[in-house]
Amino acid sequence: MFRLLFVVVVFALSGTCEIVGRRRAVPVIHLRGSHYEVGYDVGRTFSSLIKEFIATYANLRDFEKEYKTEPGKEAYEKTLANMKERYPYYVKEMQGVADGAKVPFYQLFLLQLDDIIGTINDNHIPRNDTGGCSSLGIQTPNEAVLAHTEDAFSETLNHFYIMSAHIIPTQEDRDHGAVEERFASLCYAGHMPGYTMGYNENGLVFSINTLSPMILKPGNTPRTFITRALLSAKNLEDATKILTDEGLGAGNGCSVNMIWTDENGERSLYNVEMAPDLTSNKSLLNIKKFENDVLIHTNKYLRLQLKEVDGPIIDSSNARLEAIFKHPTPKTRDDLQDILSDTTRQDFQVFQEKDDSIIKTIAAGVFDLKEKTWNIYINKPNASEPVAILPIRFTNIGK
Ligand SMILES: *[C@@H]1O[C@H](CO)[C@@H](O)[C@H](O)[C@H]1NC(C)=O
Ligand SMILES: *[C@@H]1O[C@H](CO)[C@@H](O)[C@H](O)[C@H]1NC(C)=O
Ligand SMILES: *[C@@H]1O[C@H](CO)[C@@H](O)[C@H](O)[C@H]1NC(C)=O
Repeated sequence: MFRLLFVVVVFALSGTCEIVGRRRAVPVIHLRGSHYEVGYDVGRTFSSLIKEFIATYANLRDFEKEYKTEPGKEAYEKTLANMKERYPYYVKEMQGVADGAKVPFYQLFLLQLDDIIGTINDNHIPRNDTGGCSSLGIQTPNEAVLAHTEDAFSETLNHFYIMSAHIIPTQEDRDHGAVEERFASLCYAGHMPGYTMGYNENGLVFSINTLSPMILKPGNTPRTFITRALLSAKNLEDATKILTDEGLGAGNGCSVNMIWTDENGERSLYNVEMAPDLTSNKSLLNIKKFENDVLIHTNKYLRLQLKEVDGPIIDSSNARLEAIFKHPTPKTRDDLQDILSDTTRQDFQVFQEKDDSIIKTIAAGVFDLKEKTWNIYINKPNASEPVAILPIRFTNIGK
């Protein structure tokens, strides 16, 4: 059964007015090259999507306003200097996107700063953060599945693509710590890969949920740089090191859902909650391994004890958790797809498709480790076929 949903997005661009429904399109680009080259090709290929997104994304107008203030400028410069020190090759990758798309670098960098710059002058609550992303994971003797709704501001609908990349760093980048990477990740237009969902060649399949701690650390590593680096992780230990980010630490928060497959084909399911550590130069982490439990995560902290914002992001998380817990314990991929498709609540939905919701489910991803496929749905995953099915290849561990 298939139901076509017309979520109508109206945007005005240089005098024209287009009406675009929910597109059932999943652009995938396959890339090989240095960080800069790969960024450049993404920018060149998706220039119109990136320009359109930058022109219409309301939050960016706010970030630009903050950037014009003294504290905003200072946070921007300090973060950029720190990232040029820590991850110069990812800064080059971003420069490649900017050059390829012919958009200013600073706009792309402001997107990475996100709530760090958004709250720089006015850190009030309730915060208008309206994040949404629901992740569910199961790992049984028969199945291992990570299922995720990618929810984002409605401007992001139809403004994303998948990068399937093989990065061969230049000698200069290697000297700064870059390693060869093979990964596939969904990207919001103009953003770095990593802060959504994807997999890497070393046995990692992952999804991200935005979390909103009250106190952020401007100048520290934006979460999107940390999740970009996660695409290079070799194993859980390496991932933990990247997330800890010793010497600096995360400037804002998120949750990372991971299934790791090792060279023996053994799988393990984890959730990590990450937040800025206000007392030391590293990230605050809580790592939980799920043995027989179902992994369920939305956009609020479940284990780390800290002050987070209140507002729609928390109301939506509570509503989605309630809706999810009304279902029987999921045991199969079909069960997970039913839960992801839940629209029973009036206020906030697991599959957010209401015309007036600021946050919409732009895609749902189902990683099926038994089939070794990444299934991407644009409509409800229990009532539509995946628009794209990508193979999951763990080339480095021979699986
Ligand atoms: C928060 O959202 C409300 C309702 O959409 C809006 O009126 C208000 O201006 C927003 N506040 C900020 C600081 O963006
Ligand atoms: C964190 O790093 C800053 C800058 O290097 C330094 O001034 C500060 O003392 C460090 N704080 C701690 C708790 O180590
Ligand atoms: C999809 O799942 C929802 C529950 O989330 C259920 O109400 C609905 O009947 C399911 N649809 C199909 C076609 O199975």
